[in-house]
Amino acid sequence: MEKGTLDRRIFTDADIYQEELEKVFGLAWLMVSHESLIPNPNDFFLSYMGEDPVIVTRDSKGEVHVFLNMCRHRGNRVVRADDGNAKNFMCTYHGWTFSNEGKLVSVPGLQEAYYGELDVENLGLVEARVDIYAGIIFACWADDAPTLEAYLGDARYYLDTSFNRRDGGQQAYGPQKWTEPVNWKTPVDNCSDNYHLPVTHLATSLAMGQFGRRSQTAFSTHKALFGSTSKHLHVNGHGLTLRIYEEGQQVQPRFGNGRTPKNNHVFQQFYESIQPELERRLGKFRANRFSLANHTLFPNGVLGFRLALPRGPLKTEFWHFVLVDKDAPDEVRRATIVGYGNNNGITGLMEQDDQDNWIQMTQSGLSPKGRKIPSNLSMGKGRWTNTDPRFPGIVSDGYISENNQRNFYSRWQEFMNAGSWKDIPVAPITANFEGTASMRS
Ligand code: FES
Ligand code: FE
Repeated sequence: MEKGTLDRRIFTDADIYQEELEKVFGLAWLMVSHESLIPNPNDFFLSYMGEDPVIVTRDSKGEVHVFLNMCRHRGNRVVRADDGNAKNFMCTYHGWTFSNEGKLVSVPGLQEAYYGELDVENLGLVEARVDIYAGIIFACWADDAPTLEAYLGDARYYLDTSFNRRDGGQQAYGPQKWTEPVNWKTPVDNCSDNYHLPVTHLATSLAMGQFGRRSQTAFSTHKALFGSTSKHLHVNGHGLTLRIYEEGQQVQPRFGNGRTPKNNHVFQQFYESIQPELERRLGKFRANRFSLANHTLFPNGVLGFRLALPRGPLKTEFWHFVLVDKDAPDEVRRATIVGYGNNNGITGLMEQDDQDNWIQMTQSGLSPKGRKIPSNLSMGKGRWTNTDPRFPGIVSDGYISENNQRNFYSRWQEFMNAGSWKDIPVAPITANFEGTASMRS
């Protein structure tokens, strides 16, 4: 990254892939679910931490747990349903049964066959650390990892404007799931890259405009993109881009997908009605002067609560969720879910534009000549140009550079060279979190 170049083998090499499952996905805090997907006691939801299948449970006392979905007897999957409600989970091989608190509560033949000698106490489900930010459930395998609050660091200052806006929280819808023949890092890198917008998504922007949907026309030309007063920034591996607003300008929140000239008045009324609450929760500056745009959460969160799950060096499984304010009017809810699907769901036009590039880039890492020639990520190198102290992080004024991409791959390299958290630096929290919004509410 010193030279702004990148060896393409990190996208295709099977040994590097196995190493990153251990060193990146084995150490990082990972998004696995959302509280609204398991709202009731004894609800559960199946998810993944990298390639490790996990059961996310809410026990009868309301406590959230994340367990490896693996029977401690011979390793069968304990739960097969995607979600549901159950106090206990019985393994379908020999019938060992685990509670939703992870305890091994029943073993056929415990006396007759094991002679009462089985170490039942220590054969519960393998449990991960759990923490929750604004309803999003994170899990981590590493005992020595910093708190989730420290892991998110100053990125939360910006994330709050999308995910932590409301007293009543948000509802997650989904996921849509699909696989793509790409390395998981390529979509992550892409989701804080704005350089591609006027080229990759030009046709989509024009089509969206034509059909009366809210288009990305603000950034459908290079002139608009390079002249923008927006910013992009990096904190602890998380890459974020922001749209900046002048005093008195109407903020366009990230959750505005699905807004059309026809339903605009409903969105508008809703946004106006919640503005005092936003100012109370986020402070006037965060509520009025910027909105979160494209962004990623290290290692594999892309554009909000959406996951790029690794499935081998050349395959990624996407999970697309949509978050909507719980009290949003039905028309806003429906339009938002459909709008996000039309952009970035499996049939989303933006998603298809992007996928085509990602697949071709992945193929370049496999061609004998191409894989010897590094990728170039030199744009804006050495130019950290933030001139406004109200924006914490490694911030660049303007909407475009490859600062976020270089920082993402540098962070990945820090994890790959570390092996434990003692060798991974965490930036101190410096943001002035005005307003009442906190990690949990
Ligand atoms: Fe689960 Fe035997 S593998 S009970
Ligand atoms: Fe894109």
